[in-house]
Amino acid sequence: MTVTDVYLDAGDLARALRADVTAGLTADPKWLPPKWFYDARGSELFEQITELPEYYPYRAERSILAAHAAELPPARTLIELGSGYSTKTRLLMDALGTLETYVPMDISASALAAAATQIATDYPRLRVHNIVGDFGRHLGHLPGGDDRLVAFLGGTIGNLEPAERAKFLASVREVLHPGERLLLGTDLVKSPSVLVPAYDDAQGVTADFNRNVLRVINASLGADFDVDAFAHVALWDPINEWIEMRLRATRPMRVTIPTLNLTAHFTDGEEIRTEISAKFRRERVDKELAEAGFTLDQWWTDDESRFGLSLSSAV
Ligand code: AVJ
Repeated sequence: MTVTDVYLDAGDLARALRADVTAGLTADPKWLPPKWFYDARGSELFEQITELPEYYPYRAERSILAAHAAELPPARTLIELGSGYSTKTRLLMDALGTLETYVPMDISASALAAAATQIATDYPRLRVHNIVGDFGRHLGHLPGGDDRLVAFLGGTIGNLEPAERAKFLASVREVLHPGERLLLGTDLVKSPSVLVPAYDDAQGVTADFNRNVLRVINASLGADFDVDAFAHVALWDPINEWIEMRLRATRPMRVTIPTLNLTAHFTDGEEIRTEISAKFRRERVDKELAEAGFTLDQWWTDDESRFGLSLSSAV
């Protein structure tokens, strides 16, 4: 059985996109939030990224789940934030014998719908409670319970800046009762020779994914970005320990966004920051979880210590 709660309809999404594009493209330097990559095409491109030889985080986290999911304590409700197509979640479902309800939350209604169809077929006795919502705004709408496990996988927490991260973790803690758990995937600090190619693959899939945000703005807001005139940039920031993706104008441009009454000017070489993907050390994960009111129960990594998966309990 599948039910779907919608906290973000097309109108809300359009309003949020307009606000972000107005703020980001009038700022100096320009920026756009990564959540706007994920329309149907962007979600598909991300799925392709997970299959790239350079993009190790997906496989590394998958191998940790395959090795350790059986050690997870029982839970009746599995909530997954930013669930996308829920491909890795099956490893959790198979391991959590007592699971009754799966609650995926994502801003992509199309990804949720596709995932729900598959899950209903493969796990006919599982109740699927889809939530179309933004994990930055709608955690208060998560269903109650007393035996819930919240999963936030893939390293998506790395998309948040440190202050946003603290706020986000505190908001997850707030919806949980003491003893309920958080399963958090964090990509780890490693050599830039491994990190940078993961975000700048030889086939150019990540470049296409990055540029997709401009296609989304063209389609949703009637903008006239010449998408191919922006080059994909991925760089490692050793001070902040994060990967930054940018789009670089390859010539001077004037972009009009009629629905916003906005004209954005680009100089040759000017960049828009489109994503940060923070990488962690175990001590920092421990510290940030503790500051948010969680206590670490387990810490697992893959064979090559590329990715960390933590299980913690609400204090
Ligand atoms: C989905 C946020 C985990 O940061 O690695 C992949 C997104 N960006 N390649 C990441 C992404 C470029 C991904 N997350």
